[in-house]
Amino acid sequence: MVEQSLVILKPEVHRRGISGRLISRFEDRGITIQQMKLITIPRATAEAHYSEHQGKPFFSGLVDYITSGPVIIMILEADSVISLVRTMVGATNPAVASPGTIRGDFAATIAENAIHASDSPESASREIALFFS
Ligand SMILES: Nc1ncnc2c1ncn2[C@@H]1O[C@H](COP(=O)(O)OP(=O)(O)OP(=O)(O)O)[C@@H](O)[C@H]1O
Ligand SMILES: [Mg+2]
Repeated sequence: MVEQSLVILKPEVHRRGISGRLISRFEDRGITIQQMKLITIPRATAEAHYSEHQGKPFFSGLVDYITSGPVIIMILEADSVISLVRTMVGATNPAVASPGTIRGDFAATIAENAIHASDSPESASREIALFFS
């Protein structure tokens, strides 16, 4: 079934100039970029995006980080794209992410782990509405 996933290339990706290499991985896989924009996320939007983590010790640092500079936000489209992209992204903590995954190849710390990708159809709908409406 054709699905959509919301992907964010986090601030260090733009800072380090590796956006193109990450985007190429999705294109190489045959995934369609349906929408794409470069923005700095407003704080209130970041808090809404990560609302499931409100109250956790890392929440304010996470919001500080994701709003710290420009990010590339994309809607990706393909069959079963949500699980496909999560597999390509790898484990949340780059220290245990497999080589060959985006976090396993491009990230070193859990706080700056390069990329966000929707984790379910419900998250994807919510996140697409938050960033593209
Ligand atoms: N223990 C932690 N310490 C510091 N930061 C954390 C910790 N756990 C999660 N985070 C940060 O919060 C983000 C959201 O955590 P979540 O559990 O949703 O992981 P994820 O779904 O793999 O990542 P994302 O939602 O960014 O795609 C992570 O990407 C990470 O940057
Ligand atoms: Mg998540």
